Amino acid sequence: MYKIIASRMIVPNMHILTIEAPVIARQVQAGQFIILRAEEEGERIPLSVSDWDRARGTITTIFMNIGSTTSRLSQLASGSFIPTVVGPLGNASEIEHFGTVLLIGGCYGIGSLYPVARAMKEKGNRVLVVIEARSSYLFFWEDRYRVLVDKLLHITRDGSKGLKGHIGRIPEILTALDEPVHRVLINGCTFCLKRGSDATRELGIKTVVDLNPIMIDGTGMCGVCRVSVGGMTKFACVQGPEFDGHEVDWAELAQRRKSYMAEEVIPLRTSKCEEHAHQSEEVS
Ligand code: FES
Repeated sequence: MYKIIASRMIVPNMHILTIEAPVIARQVQAGQFIILRAEEEGERIPLSVSDWDRARGTITTIFMNIGSTTSRLSQLASGSFIPTVVGPLGNASEIEHFGTVLLIGGCYGIGSLYPVARAMKEKGNRVLVVIEARSSYLFFWEDRYRVLVDKLLHITRDGSKGLKGHIGRIPEILTALDEPVHRVLINGCTFCLKRGSDATRELGIKTVVDLNPIMIDGTGMCGVCRVSVGGMTKFACVQGPEFDGHEVDWAELAQRRKSYMAEEVIPLRTSKCEEHAHQSEEVS
């Protein structure tokens, strides 16, 4: 059993969870994830590790309250226990001295991106970060980014902070940043990853995306996480989660992510969480 050290809503519909998991905390690297179950016999869900404390033996994850399992997970209070936490899983982010890197995080990806930004900085890169949300009140960890990175830019769907629009406005983002970028990495929902990759393809900038397909075992055994990249089948859990965004078959990935939408949304509707159910449909 894994003890929950801290649990709270960080912004509306987004939750931060710190779990006591010393073995994972000792080994985890930027870009890796865990698979957990909120209850015995519950569904297994992959969550990116957004931070860790190796000395205290804790890991922190930030997730969107998007389905029945994340809803249940968000209701677990500090001091309670989670039956299953497996990790660290997946490959660590490719961290090299690339020059100037543009890191883009949308929604829960704002949290997942943080250790990547830290590792990129430690490698001597100039690190530019763009964070995206529907509105300004949905941003978090801005203070952390401000002290870590070289430039921080906001983009909001409603225009309440920074540029108005979404990640597809890469050309305007680059104009606002006003410096050449050697590599882009995007972390967030499938929609955000695709929009960003489409935009950078035209500009010829190498773009890495952190894919988030449905997973079960996380060790390459079940095949549920398979994605098509460059015309080849890949298992995101063991060969990813990072891939070249210009090579991903986005239509197939979006379709596969919807496989269990009914099973996720119906329990929320029957528990009268209509707003969450609506947001689940939006995010897919
Ligand atoms: Fe089963 Fe990747 S989650 S093969």
